[in-house]
Amino acid sequence: MLYTFLGDTGVEVSRLCFGTMSFGGDADRETSAAMYHRCREAGINFFDCADIYPSSESPGLSEQILGSLIASERDQLVIASKVYAKVGPDRNDQRLSRRHIVRAVESSLQRLKTDRIDVYYLHNFDKNTPIEESLRALEDLLRAGKILYPAVSNWAAWQTATALGTAEGRHWRPIACVQPMYSLAKRQAEVEILPLARSRNLGVLTYGPVAGGLLSGKYTRASRPALGRLVENDRYRERFGEAFYYELAERFSEHCAARGVHPVTTAVAWVQANDAVTAPIIGARDPQQLHPSLAAADLEMDAEWYAELSALSPAPPPAHDRTEAAT
Ligand SMILES: NC(=O)c1ccc[n+]([C@@H]2O[C@H](COP(=O)([O-])OP(=O)(O)OC[C@H]3O[C@@H](n4cnc5c(N)ncnc54)[C@H](OP(=O)(O)O)[C@@H]3O)[C@@H](O)[C@H]2O)c1
Repeated sequence: MLYTFLGDTGVEVSRLCFGTMSFGGDADRETSAAMYHRCREAGINFFDCADIYPSSESPGLSEQILGSLIASERDQLVIASKVYAKVGPDRNDQRLSRRHIVRAVESSLQRLKTDRIDVYYLHNFDKNTPIEESLRALEDLLRAGKILYPAVSNWAAWQTATALGTAEGRHWRPIACVQPMYSLAKRQAEVEILPLARSRNLGVLTYGPVAGGLLSGKYTRASRPALGRLVENDRYRERFGEAFYYELAERFSEHCAARGVHPVTTAVAWVQANDAVTAPIIGARDPQQLHPSLAAADLEMDAEWYAELSALSPAPPPAHDRTEAAT
């Protein structure tokens, strides 16, 4: 396993982060524990979670399971969690008010059985709460030692840039990491988010490297597996609803078969090969699925292979139309 610095921080993290969204959902406690231990054996020291995981039906369960697994070795780990989603019956049990963030951190700390969360993400942008209110809450929690690095996920680049400027102007610790969706099937982050991250030396932890399973080799234009997120989960079915995605899945599988490398290993390695990416966040429902993701740690993808893969899906259009003026 290779390690790298987390953005501009002095913290070293594994170049694969393990996402625990399946803990307590697709994976029961025993299966979650098996995956956790496989990750540790492979050298992963970075685990991603959220207060809402595994789902809105049982929020907090992933943190509880992760908390019990990390207890004996907490100080060797970098733990991330998130706040935004509705986690309780009250209308204020959600979003990014100071009121909710302060309560959410306390609840996450209890479930994770720890006294601090290393990387704490605002899970989505909240158009109803001033950015300054949310960032001030993070700064106070940081000074109290309850969170160590503030971060954002699913924010547009302009929103992140606004947060950076707001924090800097007030001498608060600026956002240290971003967590966008990113895979060969979803490349929007290349346009603005990754360039911003490079220019500001932000940590970049990308989620969905296998596009929710689309790039695992089990989806083609004509066939779907009996079980799988893209057939069972409405949100994902819609996210990858267009025919293009299944054409890409097929082209990608053919490419991987010709190379003799597992599609999941290839999909994770392609994300990891981007120089703006600190670590892809890998996800799995059992150790069998996890195995090819972990194999990406040992895969060297040269520039020619990277370019061949990149050519399988269209790069998104640039951020502005005056492309002839770009230098
Ligand atoms: N910030 C956010 O908003 C956000 C959103 C999503 C995820 N995340 C984080 O990122 C982590 C990873 O995200 P993700 O789970 O969406 O990643 P992903 O790699 O795109 O999808 C993982 C899913 O792909 C399928 N899969 C993986 N390996 C496979 C294999 N070897 N063979 C067959 N199918 C395989 C499995 O789903 P099936 O078995 O159901 O097909 C698995 O649950 C999460 O755990 C979470 O920590 C963050």
